[in-house]
Amino acid sequence: MNSIVNARLKQIKPSPSMAAKIVVDELRRQGREIADYTLGEPDMPTPAHIARAGQEAIAGGDIRYTSPNGTVGLRKAIANSLEQTIGVRYGMDQITVGAGAKQIIAAALTASLEPGDEVIVCAPYWVSYPDMVLLGEGKPVVVTGPESQGFKLDAATLEAAITPRTRWLILNSPSNPSGAVYSATELRALTDVLLRHPHVWILSDEIYAPFTYSGQAHASPVQVEPKLVERTLVVNGMSKSYAMTGWRVGYGAGPADLIKAMSTVMSQSTSCPSAISQAAAQAALEGDQSSVTEMVEIFKKRRDLIVSRLNAIPGISCAMPDGAFYVYANVQGLIGKKGPDGELKTDLDVSLFFLREAGVAVIDGGSYGLSPYVRFSFATSTEVIEQGMDRLTVAVSALMAG
Ligand SMILES: Cc1ncc(COP(=O)(O)O)c(C=O)c1O
Repeated sequence: MNSIVNARLKQIKPSPSMAAKIVVDELRRQGREIADYTLGEPDMPTPAHIARAGQEAIAGGDIRYTSPNGTVGLRKAIANSLEQTIGVRYGMDQITVGAGAKQIIAAALTASLEPGDEVIVCAPYWVSYPDMVLLGEGKPVVVTGPESQGFKLDAATLEAAITPRTRWLILNSPSNPSGAVYSATELRALTDVLLRHPHVWILSDEIYAPFTYSGQAHASPVQVEPKLVERTLVVNGMSKSYAMTGWRVGYGAGPADLIKAMSTVMSQSTSCPSAISQAAAQAALEGDQSSVTEMVEIFKKRRDLIVSRLNAIPGISCAMPDGAFYVYANVQGLIGKKGPDGELKTDLDVSLFFLREAGVAVIDGGSYGLSPYVRFSFATSTEVIEQGMDRLTVAVSALMAG
């Protein structure tokens, strides 16, 4: 049968977190107990005052299309929040709202890339970046931030990757999946390179900004080098900081002509994000921020717990992540071991061994472009962390002994 699907789409992979969720759900249906560490979302409810603002929006008839770049009320709240957090005052025409940060990034790439334009992405990367670049007809150029450098990109690697076709550098701090947080000094080294290459723009994905644990606050490249404001798109959103993944609100702030083009892309695809969710997002940004601080405190305790438990398991090692809510654990020590289904040759084999033998669901490092690692999300209760680590300790100890 002839396929209607175009060549561009045939290169695109479905998200591995979504794929993992299907396997986990299936195993649970079969009665298996699974400790699920694949989730990329806070497990707590949306704070009550935010949910109430959504309910009030429905009751008050706030249920119509909005402007494609978002309501004025929400954009003002975003401008105030960005001024407080990263010290840049954006105008109303420099901010646009979308159905999640993901839609914002996709719109930016669609609005800016010519076929074959290059986008530099640092592995381990958030799985969606290369695929979104391909969807936008661009070419992902993958560089590596090795574990020995805290999974971060350095200036020499960036400099070497830039060509006349480079359109964007995507930076993500705090990072999914490594938890790396770039210090102002580390960013300075990168912004110095970028100052020498005025054709390269920066897409700074700051969706995990409040989630930092080691006393080093999140820094944005536009804070470090204000000259780059004119070619940086700052991306953020409500999903992680306010436990609002299903509400679907994200935003971008940057130069007005890019923002206008992104709004056009979104106006011709979704028209606008949900009016109800926008009202809730405005309440989140304007309201009491203590729920954010409390959530970060909870995540810090979970991080400490999972890292100490993982490092006590033979064959697994992981550095303390400084931010986000993921651990990128090194599983080199398990490669080559013989499991019940044969030799563990890759980190995908390791992740399947964890799932089958310990009922522990993780995502393989290959999905993030850097092996041999697996990603554990600690956006789950301490009980689930303890139970899963108990089972993993038993299964891996047997593997090492065998
Ligand atoms: C690094 C990163 N950026 C962006 C997103 C997208 O978030 P959303 O579309 O829910 O705002 C995610 C979600 O997992 C992420 O991890």
